[in-house]
Amino acid sequence: MYTLDEVKKFCLKCNKCRLSEMRTNVVFGEGNANSVIMFVGEGPGYNEDLQGRPFVGKAGQLFEKMIKSINLTREDIYITNIVKCRPPKNRNPMDDEQELCIDYLRWQVKLINPKIIVCLGSVAAKKLIYSNKTITSMRGKWVDKGGILFTAIYHPSYLLRNESAKKDAWQDLKSISDKIKQIRAV
Ligand code: URA
Repeated sequence: MYTLDEVKKFCLKCNKCRLSEMRTNVVFGEGNANSVIMFVGEGPGYNEDLQGRPFVGKAGQLFEKMIKSINLTREDIYITNIVKCRPPKNRNPMDDEQELCIDYLRWQVKLINPKIIVCLGSVAAKKLIYSNKTITSMRGKWVDKGGILFTAIYHPSYLLRNESAKKDAWQDLKSISDKIKQIRAV
């Protein structure tokens, strides 16, 4: 069994896939390692690659607003991505890149032991919930996988481009907030 810091050390030196050749920084993930809730995006963008931190660009600002609306801050939650290095031109991470990187996320989940995992957008939802379903059909629904409750919400980058999807996202955030309350009441 490793500690989260040990897994991070391995990850920072990783060169298992082509994305490692193009990165400035590995973006391992950050936040409260004792949190009941973990958010998973797809992969670092330009700003994240420069800073080595997840969700620090425009999408990150919206993400912070989203969690603030349910009384959470970045210090309350843990946040990471499916792939830890930036795909060129922000393309979606390829299947082999996701597969070579997923063990880091498995370790993070094992060590943080969240009750809830929220997939931010289609890439994470397909990788972690159902590979053959759309984000539109998965968002707002809950799936219990091995005792962890998974749900999905539209990616903040998508919401920045599609104002009209925000209504659905606020509804999904309310469902997440209700679920946290239920868990805390147990
Ligand atoms: N988009 C993501 O999916 N992850 C980040 O860290 C930033 C933008």
